[in-house]
Amino acid sequence: MSFKLVNIWNPKGGQGKSMIAINLAAAAMEIKLKPLVICQDPQGTSTLYHKGGNLHFDVVSKIPDSKPDANLVIIDHQASDWEVPKGKIILMPVKPARSQYKTYADAKKRAERQGKQVITVVTDANHQRADEMATARKLVAKGAYEIPASGVFSRSDSDLISIFDPLMDRAYKVKERRREFLQILGAIFTGMIEEDGDLQNVA
Ligand SMILES: Nc1ncnc2c1ncn2[C@@H]1O[C@H](COP(=O)(O)OP(=O)(O)OP(=O)(O)O)[C@@H](O)[C@H]1O
Ligand SMILES: [Mg+2]
Repeated sequence: MSFKLVNIWNPKGGQGKSMIAINLAAAAMEIKLKPLVICQDPQGTSTLYHKGGNLHFDVVSKIPDSKPDANLVIIDHQASDWEVPKGKIILMPVKPARSQYKTYADAKKRAERQGKQVITVVTDANHQRADEMATARKLVAKGAYEIPASGVFSRSDSDLISIFDPLMDRAYKVKERRREFLQILGAIFTGMIEEDGDLQNVA
């Protein structure tokens, strides 16, 4: 099976990397893809979700040394990992609070200097705060996607389930949030290169 590879990266902690890794993989399942999440931290959030037993895809804690049995490979990077990931497409989540933004901006510059295609996803913007709204709007105007602040993520987090789990069907605005993930998935797939070999060579 050939596969597509997405690295979810931002050296700043708590930006939504793992939240996106899990829900993007769950969105991929909805459209009949076979995702694999790689979380290099055995104590990492996506590994923890997997241990919860409610995900319908695999999460592994190291890069497999052969061709993956998946057609979408999502790497959930750890905080403080400043090494620009290999692979052409990098998805960078960023919370729009001022204290969080600088790491994203610095890391994005590094990635772009290496010719990467960066997809920015603004996460958790508090629409009650004018400064956060302004930052979110500015990023969206430049092509970023947005997953606004939403209670569905704390709820799914406490149950270690994705927002696509049927248990979330009646949660407030879950349909909107699901649609955002499917859109991001569409954006990732547009013009994306397929890899066809061992993961060790590309990840
Ligand atoms: N749009 C959102 N609305 C509400 N909460 C959010 C949103 N995006 C992210 N969060 C919450 O922010 C917290 C941090 O997210 P997450 O653990 O995915 O970040 P991370 O970048 O993987 O962090 P780390 O670098 O520590 O691994 C989680 O509790 C997550 O549910
Ligand atoms: Mg994480």
